[in-house]
Amino acid sequence: MRKKLVVGNWKMHGSRAANAALLSGLKELGPWSADVAVCVPFPYLAETALALTGQAVGLGAQDCSAFEQGAYTGEVSSAMLADLGCRYVIVGHSERRAYHHESDQLVADKAKAALAHGVTPIVCVGETLAEREAGQTEAVVKRQLAAVIHTLTHCIGEIVLAYEPVWAIGTGLTATPEQAQAVHAVLRKQLHAATQKSDAMRILYGGSVKPDNALQLFAQPDIDGGLIGGAALKAADFAAICRAAH
Ligand code: PGA
Repeated sequence: MRKKLVVGNWKMHGSRAANAALLSGLKELGPWSADVAVCVPFPYLAETALALTGQAVGLGAQDCSAFEQGAYTGEVSSAMLADLGCRYVIVGHSERRAYHHESDQLVADKAKAALAHGVTPIVCVGETLAEREAGQTEAVVKRQLAAVIHTLTHCIGEIVLAYEPVWAIGTGLTATPEQAQAVHAVLRKQLHAATQKSDAMRILYGGSVKPDNALQLFAQPDIDGGLIGGAALKAADFAAICRAAH
């Protein structure tokens, strides 16, 4: 059986004071039977790593460079993330694909760079509302995943995949458990064709996961946990979602 994973994506939120309060709240409310991690803004990685000492909460970042090192002003390498103790890095979040014009290939290259330094990429895929309404959901997520499979080849089994319908992110609209499961099943099948490890791979759902819908989503056979945005900023809500993943 796959162990569930719940990852908080803090996005560009927080401050040293707010983070300390959130992390101490999580410390009081944990531990959980699921694997749990928080993906925090770069400037707070080191301090968060310290705050998480001795806790079973993994540390992650929200992006990494596809390059190894060098003259890439403003970029952060996966070697640096590994150096700071990151276990995970989100790549290909729809906000980066949309606002930073990240292509499927760039996302795949970032995933490869992360794996090269022992950091597990959480690769996000998902369709926009227009794509869903045009009946292109499957084609879009399969195209996004295909680039990663092609680039990582035999290492594809090492990633965590996250299905995040763009129309459900931060909107309060959630895919129904059935809608999400249908896409997760498509993705699992695509992984199955690429690796013998597909049954052991975790596919997270993200998009307005809240304490009151987490249980139903996580009960679906191919949903192995969640990538949580807004609700990850409140210790009580995030803890309740982590509890729902067992
Ligand atoms: P949300 O964000 O939970 O606020 O919808 C999820 C995400 O973007 O990862």
